[in-house]
Amino acid sequence: MKFKREGKEPQQKCDFSQDAELKSPFSASRKERERNQRVLSQGAEAVILKKENLILKKRIKKSYRIDELDEKIRKLRTRSETKLLERASKIIPIPKVVKSDEKSKEIDMEFIDGKKLSESLDNFKLEKQKQVCREIGKSVAKLHDSGIIHGDLTTSNMILKEEKTISHEQKIKGRSDNGKLGSLYFIDFGLGFMSNKIEDKAVDIHLLKQALEAKHFQNWKALFKEVIKSYKNSRDYNLVIERLEKVEKRRRYRH
Ligand SMILES: Nc1ncnc2c1ncn2[C@@H]1O[C@H](COP(=O)(O)OP(=O)(O)O)[C@@H](O)[C@H]1O
Ligand SMILES: [Mg+2]
Repeated sequence: MKFKREGKEPQQKCDFSQDAELKSPFSASRKERERNQRVLSQGAEAVILKKENLILKKRIKKSYRIDELDEKIRKLRTRSETKLLERASKIIPIPKVVKSDEKSKEIDMEFIDGKKLSESLDNFKLEKQKQVCREIGKSVAKLHDSGIIHGDLTTSNMILKEEKTISHEQKIKGRSDNGKLGSLYFIDFGLGFMSNKIEDKAVDIHLLKQALEAKHFQNWKALFKEVIKSYKNSRDYNLVIERLEKVEKRRRYRH
């Protein structure tokens, strides 16, 4: 069985040359565009632009693919990610899709003004790190119970939007925050798919475990424990955990 992550396309720089739409931030109307639009990230699959309070996720052309096939793939992936974002938004915090256009392969969504977990989790106090991880487990359980597999559960795809409102009483007590975690947003459903298979859920959890181990190695074991603690709310919890052991054994033998 192949892991979904292994299906990722090879890393490649953006090929702007053959995409008239994509030229726009950098060419003709460049100056005008640059004023209110900037490149936030340039991944293997998509370029992410920020424009005011919107994120524009645009799937880029791959020169190594035949034109016709490339067009089809980008169109289908744009459609699939939009559907998953919309489905998931009914159950957990997800950026709202404002517009999705298969022709330009672009999804416009709400910009989440928060802290990306890959960059911030380690700086939180351990108790807060654990609290965040319980929230991760809770959200993954909800997604899985709805048959949504995220496919890329890393902390780069999670943004914590903290609550900033502090009550008068809290101010008097000298608190700088209200003790509430705020909302944990999941983004990037580009590798996601619909499935109720125990195997797919176990692999999703396995990838999350690996991501914690690789990126947040100081406390990763304690953190993963918290994830699992709240993943217990999931309908197939026992079966998924049982399968997770098999997935891990299989992986070990492969290396
Ligand atoms: N809705 C959003 N709000 C804020 N930042 C975002 C949003 N969507 C994407 N980003 C930023 O862009 C980066 C890449 O977006 P992502 O959808 O994860 O694409 P990729 O497939 O390239 O990983 C994210 O890690 C995040 O920093
Ligand atoms: Mg991502």
